[in-house]
Amino acid sequence: MGLLIRNGEVVTVGSRAVANIYVENETITRIGRNLEGPPGTEIIDATGKLVFPGFIDPHVHIYLPFMATFAKDTHETGSIAALIGGTTTYIEMCCPNRNDDALEGYQLWKSKAEGKSACDYAFHMSVTKFVKETESQLRQVVADGTASFKIFLAYKNFFGVDDGEMYQTLELAKRLGVITTAHCENAELVARLQQKLLAEGKTGPEWHEPSRPESVEAEGTGRFATFLENAGATGYVVHLSCEKALQAAVAAKSRGVKLSVESVLPHFLLDKTYAERPGVEGMKHVMSPPLRAKENQAVLWTALANGSIDTVGTDHCPFDTEQKLLGKDSFVNIPNGIPGIEDRVNLLYTCGVKRGRLDMDRFVDAASTRAAKLFGIYPRKGTIAVGSDADLVIYDTNFRGVVSAKTHHVNNDYSGFEGTAIEGRPSVVTVRGKVQVRDGKFIGERGRGKLLKREPQHF
Ligand code: URP
Ligand code: ZN
Ligand code: ZN
Repeated sequence: MGLLIRNGEVVTVGSRAVANIYVENETITRIGRNLEGPPGTEIIDATGKLVFPGFIDPHVHIYLPFMATFAKDTHETGSIAALIGGTTTYIEMCCPNRNDDALEGYQLWKSKAEGKSACDYAFHMSVTKFVKETESQLRQVVADGTASFKIFLAYKNFFGVDDGEMYQTLELAKRLGVITTAHCENAELVARLQQKLLAEGKTGPEWHEPSRPESVEAEGTGRFATFLENAGATGYVVHLSCEKALQAAVAAKSRGVKLSVESVLPHFLLDKTYAERPGVEGMKHVMSPPLRAKENQAVLWTALANGSIDTVGTDHCPFDTEQKLLGKDSFVNIPNGIPGIEDRVNLLYTCGVKRGRLDMDRFVDAASTRAAKLFGIYPRKGTIAVGSDADLVIYDTNFRGVVSAKTHHVNNDYSGFEGTAIEGRPSVVTVRGKVQVRDGKFIGERGRGKLLKREPQHF
C-alpha cells in the first residue's frame, strides 16, 4: 500500500515548497503538486505543517560499558526516544576498549542493535589501539559497510590512543577512504590536572571542568588537525564545546585541512554552572568535554549559523542518578554523559530557528543533510527526493510543551534539559514509509530499523 503525504511545506536544504509526497515500497517515488494514489493509499494531511527529511544524529552511545557501569538505554528504548524526537537514523559509537578485541567488539555492538532498533542506524568503529591485527580487522569492518572510524585522544588507558596510534589510524583511513571522528582532549593533561585537583581536596563535580579546561580541548583539536594534515586524511571533531577549540578547528579548515566539526546539544544550551550545582544535581551535568562558561554559547550558535560548525549531534549517553553517584567521593568517577536523543530536534528548532539564531537551511543541514553526506548515506537519507528512503518528519510548529523526565521516553530518571519549553514537535514520523510515531507516541514496528551499509568516499 502506498502512502501519500498531502499539502505539507516540504523543507530541504535550499528549497521550501508546498507539495505532495508519494511513497511506495519504502521509497519516495513522486513529489508534486496534485498527486493522487491508487485506491487503498494511506493518506496523511500535512496542511499547515512542515515536512523535513528524517533527522540524523551522528553521535550517540546506546550500548556502552564505561566508567564502571553501562549507559542506560537499549536499542529498544533509545530508538523509540529518537523517533519520537524526529531522529530517524542514528550513528552509534562502537567502543570496545583497549583490552578488547576490535572485531569481537564490532560483532557485539552489532548484536545489541540487530532486530531491536525501531529506526535505522549505523556505527562509527572506534580504534582504541593499533596492533598488528588492527589493519586487517579494520579492513573487514569497512568491507562490512562501516565506513567511519572513531578515535579518542582522551580517556587514557581505556579508549584513548597515543599519537603513534592516531597517525597509524589516519594513515589507514586515508588509504581506505574512510572519515575519522575524534574526541579531542589531551589525555595526559587531563590525568595530571585530575590528580592535582584531587590532591588539593577538590573532589566535587564542580572540579570536572577545571580538570579539562578549554586549552586542553583546543590542544587536542589542533593536534588532531595537524595529524590529519600530515596524513592527508579526512576528519571530524566530535562534541566541540568552546571558542578556543573552535579557533583551532577554523584555522585548520581555512588552511585546507579536510576537517568537519560537530557540536552537541548540551553545549549550546547549558553552561558550567549546571555542573557546579551541589551534589548529584551537579553530577547529572558532568560530561566530556565539560559544560563551559556561558560566553561560549553565543560563539557556538554563530559558528553553527555560518557553517564553521557543520553538524549538531547529541552524544546521547544516559546514566541515571544512582550511576552518577558512583562519583560522590571523587569527580573522576562520575560517569560522563547526558541524555539528549529525544530532545535534539525540538530544542534546536526552538532555541535555534524560533529564536532567530539559525535559518531553516542550516537547521536541516546541521541536523540531517550534512551528516548524511559526510557519513556516506546521502541521498538515501538526509533529503526528500525521488529515490530517497521515505524517512519523513511532519512537524507541528504550533505544538507547545516542556522537556521533562516525567514524560520522556529515554531510559533515564532525569533530563539535563528539564523544564525547557519547546515550540514545535514531530506530529508524524516515518521510517522507510512506515508511520512509527504520531503526536508524541510510538505506534510503529519495533525492530524495524536496519543497519546501514556505507561505502568509503573520502579518498
Ligand atoms: O561525556 C561524554 N561525552 N560521554 C560519552 C563518551 C564520550 O566521550 O563521547
Ligand atoms: Zn567523547
Ligand atoms: Zn560520545
